[in-house]
Amino acid sequence: MTDILSGVLPTSDPDTDPGTPDQSEIDEHLVCVERIAVTHDVTTFVLAPRSTRWFYFQPGQYVTITVNLDGQEVNRCYTISSPPTRPDRLTITVKRVPGGPVSNWLHDRLTVGDTVPVTGPLGRFTTDRHPASKYLFLSAGSGITPLMSMTRTIIDLDTEVDVIFVHNARTPDDIIFRRELETIAADHPKVTVVAICEQDSTSQEWAGHRGRLSLPLLRDIAVDLPEREIFTCGPAPYMTAVRSMLDEAGADPARRHEETFSFEDLIGTRALASSESSVPTSEQVAAEVKTFSVELRHRRQTIECDADTTVLQAALRAGVRLPSSCEEGVCGTCKSSLLCGSVDMQHAGGIRPREIAQNKILVCCSKPLEDLIIDA
Ligand SMILES: Cc1cc2nc3c(=O)[nH]c(=O)nc-3n(C[C@H](O)[C@H](O)[C@H](O)COP(=O)(O)OP(=O)(O)OC[C@H]3O[C@@H](n4cnc5c(N)ncnc54)[C@H](O)[C@@H]3O)c2cc1C
Ligand code: FES
Repeated sequence: MTDILSGVLPTSDPDTDPGTPDQSEIDEHLVCVERIAVTHDVTTFVLAPRSTRWFYFQPGQYVTITVNLDGQEVNRCYTISSPPTRPDRLTITVKRVPGGPVSNWLHDRLTVGDTVPVTGPLGRFTTDRHPASKYLFLSAGSGITPLMSMTRTIIDLDTEVDVIFVHNARTPDDIIFRRELETIAADHPKVTVVAICEQDSTSQEWAGHRGRLSLPLLRDIAVDLPEREIFTCGPAPYMTAVRSMLDEAGADPARRHEETFSFEDLIGTRALASSESSVPTSEQVAAEVKTFSVELRHRRQTIECDADTTVLQAALRAGVRLPSSCEEGVCGTCKSSLLCGSVDMQHAGGIRPREIAQNKILVCCSKPLEDLIIDA
């Protein structure tokens, strides 16, 4: 990140840079200062601090919002859709998910003047970690939000970075940030925007690309695809389709970065993968897997967990349901304090370096290295 505003926006690696806690971290109640209708089912909420401060984050990162639903606190992650180059406000852009408790609560209940607890920033899906002169952004539905933050940042910094921004929507009425994207495309020759709609909307016939993204279309849009750093965000089926297109197109896996918002599909895939791998191989049988005890202090319960199993899985097997959502080390819902022992934690950005230094762990992606005591 380059300095543009009073020269203080830092370059940092969320893995290694603990940051300055009171500057880089957001653990506070933010005030909703504006609601912006983006489409018929998408709203941007503009959030501001209660006293003047700047937010530090990287384009593509997200925050966790806590909502009180009938006395129960529920957490959800939302990408910061604004760029870090406009650091006095944060925006989140939320799509209503039919029957979804939090997205509908935000749409129906969060009004200007209300405060909401926000924690973050979190996440590794950011261009800051992968600087390049050419990007390909592929998004579908609400997966557009991190790519919009990245694009807004690139434009604010007035760099020579070349961006191809491809977005899939159901109908023209569902194109999130449509007017802004059209303005960006018209004003910035280095940014190419391509929208693809599955069908017309009731009010508008779609004259652009139709259907879904395909490899021939992708090759047409990005002739220099192998030269580009690729960021993809969308629902799980879209991610799967894009993955196989990029494989076929010969895109370098090291230059492909993904995020999805929907954990249910991930959990389904994981369940399948774990049932497929539940029959141990002869090597697995031969290798002795150590088993450790894990004391769940808060619950006054001790379970067994082997070195190949996450604490969350072991708890589930023992009939203990610990708070969790993504089970991927992304969302931070399962964060707990490690009071004793050590773990091998393979997280995906859902915990901050400072929290790790304070002995916090994500139980969904932590395997024991010795006996543990956890405040869970
Ligand atoms: C890192 C991260 C960033 C996110 N950023 C955004 C964002 O910028 N904008 C946004 O609208 N949402 C975002 N989400 C999704 C968000 O956290 C919630 O999952 C979503 O708002 C639904 O919450 P809910 O409580 O209403 O419904 P839930 O009970 O959580 O979900 C109901 C069902 O809808 C599916 N689902 C969840 N999110 C979506 C979605 N966006 N589109 C389609 N189906 C979905 C779930 O898998 C589940 O099947 C993000 C999620 C993650 C993990
Ligand atoms: S459940 Fe999401 S980080 Fe553990």
